[in-house]
Amino acid sequence: MTEKIKVELDGVPGTLLWNLYHRAAEARRPDAVLEDPRAIELVDSIDFPFERFGEPRMAQWHALRVLCFDRAVGRFLQAHPDGVVVALGEGLETQFWRIDNGRVRWLTVDLPETVEVRRRLLPDDPPRRRTLPGSALDLTWMDEVDASAGVLITTQGLLMYLQPEEVRSLIAACAERFPGGTLVFDAVPHALAERSRREDLDTGAAYRAPAWHWSLDPGEHDKVMEYSPKIAGTRDLRYPRGRGLFALAPWVGYVPLIRRLRMPIVEVRFAG
Ligand SMILES: C[S@@+](CC[C@H](N)C(=O)[O-])C[C@H]1O[C@@H](n2cnc3c(N)ncnc32)[C@H](O)[C@@H]1O
Repeated sequence: MTEKIKVELDGVPGTLLWNLYHRAAEARRPDAVLEDPRAIELVDSIDFPFERFGEPRMAQWHALRVLCFDRAVGRFLQAHPDGVVVALGEGLETQFWRIDNGRVRWLTVDLPETVEVRRRLLPDDPPRRRTLPGSALDLTWMDEVDASAGVLITTQGLLMYLQPEEVRSLIAACAERFPGGTLVFDAVPHALAERSRREDLDTGAAYRAPAWHWSLDPGEHDKVMEYSPKIAGTRDLRYPRGRGLFALAPWVGYVPLIRRLRMPIVEVRFAG
């Protein structure tokens, strides 16, 4: 048996392991809503106490969230097969291998400690796939993007950890720099963000993620238009249909009581 690779990450970078663990847990099922053999390989090759995350009860929900992003990237690649996908805060996402069309160029931007882990586990394959160490807020990554064949920026599981003014200026800077481009992000609703900041609260959960600072309720996507006059439009993306109760996932936004707990996934179009 090959030796496992030790991964030590905490704080916000450590949250990528929760995501990976849940993606792989769903992908292991025979009736999985997401195929992700790379995620399974990664979990099996990492020396980390994944049991600290408890039973992966959120696996299907997380996989549907991931699938919603995959579909957005897939639509972009249909229209721009040679385009660039910039994945900000990509962690150990394996989206490239799920949707590669053989032509897309892919740029990952993440903090240096995460990039070090990513490079050990998922080596770069230039020139089509590259990884840059640094904060998404340090906008120098923009100089590395050749947007001539179209650009899509994704931030999955990142913006909620940033301060509201940081999110506003990051989105405004992307709109300014990439006319005609698209951004897809997810957000946490206000109630969950407030709960995450209550240090006195015992959630009873096996694992508690770091506090969320920026939040957006489902249906509030148009508020993002206020961030920059260079934003042409926004829309709330529908979650794909899942198994069992999750067959209702695309319609959860219409169900009173629970609709405000949905994590919105928003597509932002920049003016051309
Ligand atoms: C919850 S994880 C999400 C990882 C991945 N996108 C996914 O969905 O599995 C948050 C990621 O954001 C990265 N991150 C945190 N702050 C960042 C910043 N300022 N710039 C770029 N990446 C950042 C972390 O290192 C980590 O990879």
